[in-house]
Amino acid sequence: MLPFRYFYVGCLTGLLCLPSMAWAASSSTAPAYQDATLPIEVRVEDLLARMTIFEKVGQMALVERKHLSDVSDIRTYGLGALLSGSGSRPATNTVAAWSDMTSSFQAEAANTRLGIPLLYGVDAVHGQAHVEELTIFPHAIGLAATRDETLVYDIAKATAIEMAATGANWNFAPNLDMPHDHRWGRVYETYGVHRSTVMQFGEAFVAGTQYGLNGSPSAARVLATPKHYLGLGSMEFGTSQNPQYLIDQGMTAYNISRLQQEYAPPFAAAIDAGAMTIMAGLNSWGKKQVTASYYLLTKILKERLGFQGFVVSDWYGVYALPGTKYQDTVMAINAGIDMVMLPEEYERFVRDMIRAYQNGDISAERIDDAVRRILRAKFTLGLFDVSRTPVLSEQTLAAHGALARKAVAESVVVLKNERDALPLPVSLATTSAHTHQLLVAGSIAHDTGKQAGAWTIDWQGVTGNVLPHATSILAGIEATVSSSSKVTYVPDVTALASTTRAAVGIVVVGEAPYAEGFGDRHYPILPYEDILAITTLRPLVDTLVVVMVAGRPLLIEHELPLIDVLAMAWLPGQAGEGVADVLFGNVPSTGRLPLPWPLRSEQLPFRSGARTYDGTAPLYELGFGLTTSAVAKSSAAQR
Ligand code: BGC
Repeated sequence: MLPFRYFYVGCLTGLLCLPSMAWAASSSTAPAYQDATLPIEVRVEDLLARMTIFEKVGQMALVERKHLSDVSDIRTYGLGALLSGSGSRPATNTVAAWSDMTSSFQAEAANTRLGIPLLYGVDAVHGQAHVEELTIFPHAIGLAATRDETLVYDIAKATAIEMAATGANWNFAPNLDMPHDHRWGRVYETYGVHRSTVMQFGEAFVAGTQYGLNGSPSAARVLATPKHYLGLGSMEFGTSQNPQYLIDQGMTAYNISRLQQEYAPPFAAAIDAGAMTIMAGLNSWGKKQVTASYYLLTKILKERLGFQGFVVSDWYGVYALPGTKYQDTVMAINAGIDMVMLPEEYERFVRDMIRAYQNGDISAERIDDAVRRILRAKFTLGLFDVSRTPVLSEQTLAAHGALARKAVAESVVVLKNERDALPLPVSLATTSAHTHQLLVAGSIAHDTGKQAGAWTIDWQGVTGNVLPHATSILAGIEATVSSSSKVTYVPDVTALASTTRAAVGIVVVGEAPYAEGFGDRHYPILPYEDILAITTLRPLVDTLVVVMVAGRPLLIEHELPLIDVLAMAWLPGQAGEGVADVLFGNVPSTGRLPLPWPLRSEQLPFRSGARTYDGTAPLYELGFGLTTSAVAKSSAAQR
């Protein structure tokens, strides 16, 4: 029986008051849509035919869980999907608490007349790193450096398994933006600019995430979301519509053939790999936001690329359109958005949608098309048939930890290796000339929060060693060198005596976490404290190794001559040991740059991904990287 409030709200709008009797499902036999043996399309049509306009519109709403006025609103409005925006979590940040929270949401959905389950979305872009107990893999740019498609599949699958344990069944990943401007704050979320790599990795991520869709009932069932459609990586500097940003949420100026040639192929590949949802970007194409572009969303994506799944708008993307919220809704839905990441005003959305339907501003066919696509994804996911949340064992988590370490080791790109200083000896030599064996310094040497980057616990990430199962790069080094070797951590290089001398100095430098436009920069450079660490250690050590932990190549022209070894570790996540594995030769270095490294800012943005803006040579070309051996030396590298 329909709860009173459900009926009441429908009537309150003054737009739709169907007698509750008409909503009652047939009780004699189970409806066709509940029959798992029937083809998905049959089930979709059966369910669609049973739905009222109010129920259909509810399916099109994606709401941030914090913005539910009451959990019962899931039932009252028949909401189709919820999300945890990055950092939005239950009071205790454990798998069990997440699972309880999502189960309580699903229970509300199960109590609606038709019992349509919810999609629950999260940004598990480098593992479900928002939950303290779960695995933090390297960010996508590091995975791109590995050139290892199987690794990407394995990580996507591991992430899906961990997500499913929390009850989340929808990952807002992979990111297929190909960034041509390193000043943009989202470079690290991408697989770089090499198109065929982006295509392969996007496919691998979709396949890995959705590995369980046709599998056993105990498999994790999670949908992937290629994003952001289309051309986000080519937004122009200084065009952001957000006054706080420089590039993000800006304008793509490419013409349609260039957009189609350069940016559409990874989405086409992801569709072929089975993607059922795609997220529209917050960028504009020329003067029009992509969210309102019928041409890009319907003509190209749905008609030309044949996408049968649903298009979800990005965070507040619909209400960011010019016009009243009613007009925005009409514009976006008619352009081809099927589900709206509101993420807040769901009551208003439902009311506006019903009004638009009654006014004839949005047709019944368009609403049916949107809901059909959403239901198709839900049936494909198996949501109606399998409800159990797979349990995560200690063993599985340990295997994922090992996978994270392997990924880090494969992602490190060695850019400079003077006198073959790498690999470093695990048994450090002591000579009378030295006061120390190995000095470790730099702002990220012992900071797992910075090492993990953003989209970890919180949207803008965390700093400090606050991640319970993460290992800092310092700790990774300490665990790797022989027991007779002494590692000295120098948190403040200004405190070092001028008489200090060491065989090796390792300085871990880079960027503090940032997400989206908060990472837009005029000049992507090292912070002053890291430049100070490099210049201070240089005269005190025989071999100076600089490990960069950053979401993008930072300008390093002036510091480079001082450095013997430069290794890019991207944003490695929880496994600092993986960096030590490469430095000390447990594994050879095999990483390669997934985007070119600029010498100076005048070279930005890169044209077509790899040619500098001013035509001069970059510091390191796309694909560059040195291979070092996996055989550790027995004594300290001498300068
Ligand atoms: C980002 C998306 C993300 C969404 C949900 C937006 O701000 O642009 O990439 O998936 O938030 O957290």
